[in-house]
Amino acid sequence: MSARTPVIAGNWKMHKTTTEAHRYVNELVELIRGVEGVEVVLCPPYTSLPEVTALAAGSGMRVAAQNMHFEESGAFTGEISAAMLVDIGVSDVILGHSERRQYFAESDDDLARKVPAALAAGIRPILCVGESDEEREAGQTEEKLERQVTRDLEAVSGEQAAGIIVAYEPIWAIGTGKTATPAIAGDACGFIRETLAGMFGRETAEAVRILYGGSVKPNNIGELMAEEHIDGALVGGACLDPGDFSQIVRFG
Ligand code: PGA
Repeated sequence: MSARTPVIAGNWKMHKTTTEAHRYVNELVELIRGVEGVEVVLCPPYTSLPEVTALAAGSGMRVAAQNMHFEESGAFTGEISAAMLVDIGVSDVILGHSERRQYFAESDDDLARKVPAALAAGIRPILCVGESDEEREAGQTEEKLERQVTRDLEAVSGEQAAGIIVAYEPIWAIGTGKTATPAIAGDACGFIRETLAGMFGRETAEAVRILYGGSVKPNNIGELMAEEHIDGALVGGACLDPGDFSQIVRFG
């Protein structure tokens, strides 16, 4: 067991109205009352962030946005800045989720600006990286992970790096029900830690929490958490039900 505190984050994606969010958080708070030693992060859509931060206050849960722009303000219709998130009590932000990269053309150049912008505003980035099916088949998994980690974190200082969370999310496992085996996920997370050690030094790399994401469910979280380099999970589909998510928070 490492000294790193586990993190379980629930990425709601484009699900739940604010009314539904209200009911969900109240239920979840009851279901995980008394659970200790794990950081829980709720990642609702922008519209529910004020409600969720208010309801989660005092529960110990953190609240993340699912994206943000790298500029502080300006003529960027439809975008949200770090300062706007801080102002409503948001503590974390998911950056570089594969759906943002795939459907919204988010690039490593964008991420190399978003990560430092979040850190400068005092928001903790949860940076997502991961390979596609084709890349894994072609033996390019490590190359892809190394490229994403190196480029997306290029403007981050050694001091800042320890506070970042990295989520390994193989694209072929997201929303497909095809979870990576614990060994595959553990190896990839270990490789990400080696990459971080090369960039920021061993001590910093050992402090970074690395999560696995991709079809995490109550019945597979236990074996994933047993892997040395997996420090938690970024959960999509299975976080939408408070009962399932509370089981994942308890590691199954
Ligand atoms: P999933 O999504 O758990 O539904 O596979 C994970 C994610 O996209 O973060």
